[in-house]
Amino acid sequence: MTSRKLREQFLKFFEKKRHKIVPPISLIPTDPSVLFTTAGMQQFKPYYLVEKSPYGQNVCSCQKCFRTSDIEEVGDESHLTFLEMLGNFSFGGYFKKEAISWAYEFIFKELKLPLKETIFTVFEGDKDVPEDEESVEIWKELGVHKNKIKKCGRADNFWGPTGQEGPCGPTTEIHIKGIEVWNLVFNEYYQDKNKQLTPLVQKGVDTGMGLERLAMIVQNKSSVFETDLFESIIGELQKYTGRTPANLKGGRIIADHVKSAVFLISDGILPSNVEKGYVLRRILRRAIRYGKLLNLPANFLILLAQKVIEIYKNVYPEIKSKEEEILTVIQQEEEKFERTLHEGLKQFENISKKGNISGVDAFHLYDTYGFPLELTIELAKERNLNIDQKGFEEAFKKHQEISRAGVESKFGGVGKEVTYETTKLHTATHLLQAALRKILGEHVKQMGSDITSQRLRFDFSHHQKMTENEIKKVQSLVNQKIKEDLEVKKEEMNYKAAIKSGALALGKEDKSSFSPSFPFRGNSVFKEKYPEIVTVFLIEDFSKEICAGPHIKRTSELGLFKIIKEESSGAGVRRIQAILE
Ligand code: SER
Repeated sequence: MTSRKLREQFLKFFEKKRHKIVPPISLIPTDPSVLFTTAGMQQFKPYYLVEKSPYGQNVCSCQKCFRTSDIEEVGDESHLTFLEMLGNFSFGGYFKKEAISWAYEFIFKELKLPLKETIFTVFEGDKDVPEDEESVEIWKELGVHKNKIKKCGRADNFWGPTGQEGPCGPTTEIHIKGIEVWNLVFNEYYQDKNKQLTPLVQKGVDTGMGLERLAMIVQNKSSVFETDLFESIIGELQKYTGRTPANLKGGRIIADHVKSAVFLISDGILPSNVEKGYVLRRILRRAIRYGKLLNLPANFLILLAQKVIEIYKNVYPEIKSKEEEILTVIQQEEEKFERTLHEGLKQFENISKKGNISGVDAFHLYDTYGFPLELTIELAKERNLNIDQKGFEEAFKKHQEISRAGVESKFGGVGKEVTYETTKLHTATHLLQAALRKILGEHVKQMGSDITSQRLRFDFSHHQKMTENEIKKVQSLVNQKIKEDLEVKKEEMNYKAAIKSGALALGKEDKSSFSPSFPFRGNSVFKEKYPEIVTVFLIEDFSKEICAGPHIKRTSELGLFKIIKEESSGAGVRRIQAILE
């Protein structure tokens, strides 16, 4: 039976049992306590409490879900980051007897799956919640032998809440051929932020059955990746890799991540360095990394994304209508990461020649080239090298302290990350300041700076609007310096000597409120906080600035520099926004 048919059959089954079929919500939930939609019950959360369900008491759905909690497991036969969850729900309507009987009927009567190879789990009870004897009795009444019913604790048979608080309760699960297929949750409690349980006024049912796992059992496959929900994606991959056990896991990870990325983008998420966008960026980059290991062609993500789109475009309209955009976003991210990876891998090769990876080196890869620690660990493993993870944490902490010295903190929980993109923009800011001083005059001083992964913003002292000609000249001077492929050098110096030698420090009133890549900037009382020994970054004889970094190694890494805006930013202060392409 096809997965399409399974979806339909499930919803029809519950429609016949007087459930209203409710369409899925976006992967971006309205519930602010969670980052993504991770369960079918997400959209129904309020209806377990006091709010009345506009759909009636009993509903069913096929909900797209995205979960990073199992990311380490992806690659085995059944774990995924993106999945479709079939579910039936009741808010104060039916309870255990109906939920369990219908689950039994659907699995063993409708789909005729083998009872012989099935086991059932129920909650064994603990100090707060009693044993679920009722579910045991109901299964037995349906004809399930008591030897097939297993009692488990909190970790396995208690579900929820999603986010920090909400409805939750004991569960009973159906496992077929060792795979957890269906989870029936009996919402009887409300868990608050302090993890205290209070009985709910009305009891509720929330069931969830992963379509991919169900398809795996129904289609008699040994993994979800062989079902029709993955077949063509894996097939495309195998064109390049063949199928050896060694690349099986990597291929599965790639297939899963590409699918998740397609769905996240179709719901409006774009790669970035914060929150949802960061998660998207990470899974895309993880997929690209695995693609490199398997020697896949440069544009492989696009080829696979096209397969994903083919599978789902007639099921999810947002996939169909955003086809172009999805492919463009993936292509751009692939190109962007290609450049970062190239530079970062070169660095890694140098570092790994010395043997085991020190914490400081791992941090450098993270800080400058955006290599997540897990990536460096994976690379090191392939070469049988160890990583000093403790040293990495120490380097991270030390950096954090240095950053705090200037009030601003890069990692201070503000949600901004230092990546290769921000590092490049940081170096570009130095070139920009030097170019402005050459073209407009030495009165130009930095008054503020802010960098995001997309652009730099630079405020500087200057009394009139720049002419178009001046803007052009500044832009080409920066681009000329990029082309010259100049080395960015770092020197430790005594503060006074640095100033004397012409190194630029901050303007008097740098009012930037936040600047992630400028740990020593963005603070008007900064001057008093300069340490005695400072770091100076030099770009040959063109630029010399006191700065904590990080910076890239050579200006040619920057690509093309483009000024996109010049405007006023207060009396006697101009503001430039620029990007790198
Ligand atoms: N909320 C439960 C789960 O996600 C059942 O739907 O597993």
